[in-house]
Amino acid sequence: MKHQLTLLAGAIALLLAASCKKDAEDPAPPGTPGPAPIDLAVPWYFPIMDVPADNPTTREGIALGRRLYYDTLLSASGPMAGRSCSSCHSQALSFSVPGSPPGFLQVLPHVNLAWSSNFLWKGEVQGTLEDIMRFEVEDFFSADMNILQNDPHYPQLFSQAFGSATITQDAVDKALAQWFRSMISSNSHLDQYLRNEIALTPSEQNGMMLYLTETGDCFHCHGLPLTTDHDFHNIGLDSTFSGADQGRFLVTGQTSDLGAFKTPSLRNIALTAPYMHDGRFATLEEVVEHYNSGVKHSASLDPIMTKPGKETGLNLSPQQMADLVAFLHTFTDPVFLTDTALASPF
Ligand code: HEC
Ligand code: HEC
Repeated sequence: MKHQLTLLAGAIALLLAASCKKDAEDPAPPGTPGPAPIDLAVPWYFPIMDVPADNPTTREGIALGRRLYYDTLLSASGPMAGRSCSSCHSQALSFSVPGSPPGFLQVLPHVNLAWSSNFLWKGEVQGTLEDIMRFEVEDFFSADMNILQNDPHYPQLFSQAFGSATITQDAVDKALAQWFRSMISSNSHLDQYLRNEIALTPSEQNGMMLYLTETGDCFHCHGLPLTTDHDFHNIGLDSTFSGADQGRFLVTGQTSDLGAFKTPSLRNIALTAPYMHDGRFATLEEVVEHYNSGVKHSASLDPIMTKPGKETGLNLSPQQMADLVAFLHTFTDPVFLTDTALASPF
């Protein structure tokens, strides 16, 4: 009975997903007043998505945010001139690019960020997607509203999305935030498994057991289905800290935050090498080896890393480590990576 209910819920979620997809692509019926509200296709096993009351998600808002994201016009006058957001955040790689631009940490992917309230590796910005967009557009791009205002297309697009052709920083942030809410990855093998649509291989299944139990203990920080607690932890990459490796300490000044970084989402993780804030690991095998035997001690090390019995690491067998990596590969979502609704509109 329970199994049937789950299947039924899965079927409903799929139907909803299909109908929302359709909504997002259909043109507005002629004469429709105002932007058209959209119910985003959030699977039933995801947490509720909080959307600020003053920025409801609409078809026109998402379309505008998507265009801004792919448009170099947004950066035209500032220090990032010539770049679009997408120049460092590429859909095929879960909206990241390999490595780090000069002077930056590794590029963070854009996936399921609607559920996050801590942004950037060190958590410089906390709050809503609107808040991080304000930071990206104002502080990072120094975007010039006059350039958008003088463009032949944008005034009308802003008017359609927000009812005013006067382009404000606030409206830019809101449109981008709506677009980010639509960047939902929920069609990986993991999701299909959670929806009872497919079975995992024995190796993936074993990897999942390690991931979800004390043996591998990944779930404490990378819990399903979002695969991140959106919190900050020092996972023992170093025992002494200098420069950017001081992590969240550089934001809070608290010594307990030395070496702590945001837990990244592991969705599409097989595609976003190299790994960690500084890209020190080239493969998922190296990452798992770190958790298995490489954890370095320091006063701010997260206690989860050295629970009784794990003082010297997880002590997994080579087969167990391979199973864990196989499970991480089930987080890859080909639909998300190729969805035309998320691709460049240009
Ligand atoms: C030059 C490359 C580059 C460009 C262009 C760029 N980003 Fe990023 N982005 C990064 C890097 C690097 C990080 C991680 C930096 C850090 O956390 O210290 C990042 C992080 C982010 C994050 C935080 C994700 C998280 O999980 O906390 C968001 C949101 C974001 N970028 C949005 C944007 C938007 C919106 C634009 C366009 C206005 C943009 N980015 C343009 C390189 C870039
Ligand atoms: C105490 C919390 C915690 C636990 C437990 C934990 N992680 Fe992490 N994980 C993090 C944090 C924080 C980072 C980012 C660290 C950094 O870059 O400095 C991370 C990074 C990663 C990355 C690289 C992500 C990227 O985008 O570069 C992978 C892969 C990963 N963890 C997998 C696992 C696996 C597999 C397990 C279980 C064996 C696990 N983690 C256990 C908190 C945790």
